[in-house]
Amino acid sequence: MINIAVLGYGTIGSGVVEVLNTNGESIAKRAGDQINIKYVLDRKEFPGDPVMEKLVKDFNIILEDPEVKLVVEVMGGIEPAYTFVKSALLNGKSAITSNKELVAKHGAELLKIAKEKNLNFLFEASVGGGIPIIRPLNQSLTADEIVEITGILNGTTNYILTKMSEDGLDFDTALKNAQSMGYAERNPAADVEGQDSCRKIAILSSLAYGMQVDYEDIYTEGITHITDIDIKYAKAMDARIKLFASSIRENDEKVYAMVAPMMIKADHPLYSVNDVFNGIFVRGNVIGDVMFYGSGAGKLPTASAVVADIVDAAKHLEKNIWTIWSSKKLELTDIKQVAHQFFIRVKGDVASLKDKVWELFGEVEVIKADGVDGEMAFLTSVLTEEEINEKISKLPNVLNMIRVRF
Ligand code: HSE
Repeated sequence: MINIAVLGYGTIGSGVVEVLNTNGESIAKRAGDQINIKYVLDRKEFPGDPVMEKLVKDFNIILEDPEVKLVVEVMGGIEPAYTFVKSALLNGKSAITSNKELVAKHGAELLKIAKEKNLNFLFEASVGGGIPIIRPLNQSLTADEIVEITGILNGTTNYILTKMSEDGLDFDTALKNAQSMGYAERNPAADVEGQDSCRKIAILSSLAYGMQVDYEDIYTEGITHITDIDIKYAKAMDARIKLFASSIRENDEKVYAMVAPMMIKADHPLYSVNDVFNGIFVRGNVIGDVMFYGSGAGKLPTASAVVADIVDAAKHLEKNIWTIWSSKKLELTDIKQVAHQFFIRVKGDVASLKDKVWELFGEVEVIKADGVDGEMAFLTSVLTEEEINEKISKLPNVLNMIRVRF
């Protein structure tokens, strides 16, 4: 029997308990031993829930119990998660987490400690909810140099954008629905402002390139500026707006990463990734293109990924699974040099704006949307961020600007 402790009995923690109860027998076969939850750590009480028998409030009880071999951190946030995970590893216990903030910030250090102690630090659930992506990057795509990772990595924002576009829901109602289904972060600003996607692409990039990609260095834009008018224009172009998190290696010296809404058409592999689903497109220099798809948030899909890590850790109790992620910082290309095509909306009528737009952007494609008046919308040619910002600064009353990958 392998004893484990679950830190946090919120959405994911209760999901982990549920998955182990539901599929305990088959999980034991796969792990080679019975997995027993000895402790659940939480500050709250859960009257009437059988978890009460295992509930503890003091992490030291877990830390000092030599029978506990694995610690599963599903509390979220940096502290006390970081202190708990680090001390668990230093005290000879493998650690598993779903916590993208923790992994993005301290992944390299925690992996190093796990290696030194011949233990494991696993974090499959930190990116893409239930989708296997960390293990494939570490263990399957090892023959390749990764040249691109582009993902829809946040279930909440993908759900909001889908509901705004398909069902005409307004932003706030769609967000409330996402919250009630357990998709959103405790503070949903992390979802809608793009920070959650930013941490996830930082983790994937660090693994892909084997070096530390600091999430603070990644240009990040959320979806709060996307309106129903933008969606009308997207429809007029047979396009959809998705929150993309991308990391692209242009050559040995140049890697750029960014999070931003993107207009895409049906020929893009991520076009059909809707609702809470996430999709991750990976391009390797040998394998070509690979796609990963599945539920990107929610209690049971995320718990499934956590429990898969528990099984892996149980199979490798005294054997480190080597993961390349050094603490050496990868310097990203300055975002100003990154180029895209842009969709731009400017307040005013086409007749009076046309000359100025032509002068700045050359002859552009003007876009019309049913029922939208009093503004001019157009698609630019491919421009760097520096070029677009300079041109935009010369245009009065810009209503919105969305990058395009057609
Ligand atoms: N809030 C996150 C999302 C949860 O919506 O994707 C999964 O990381």
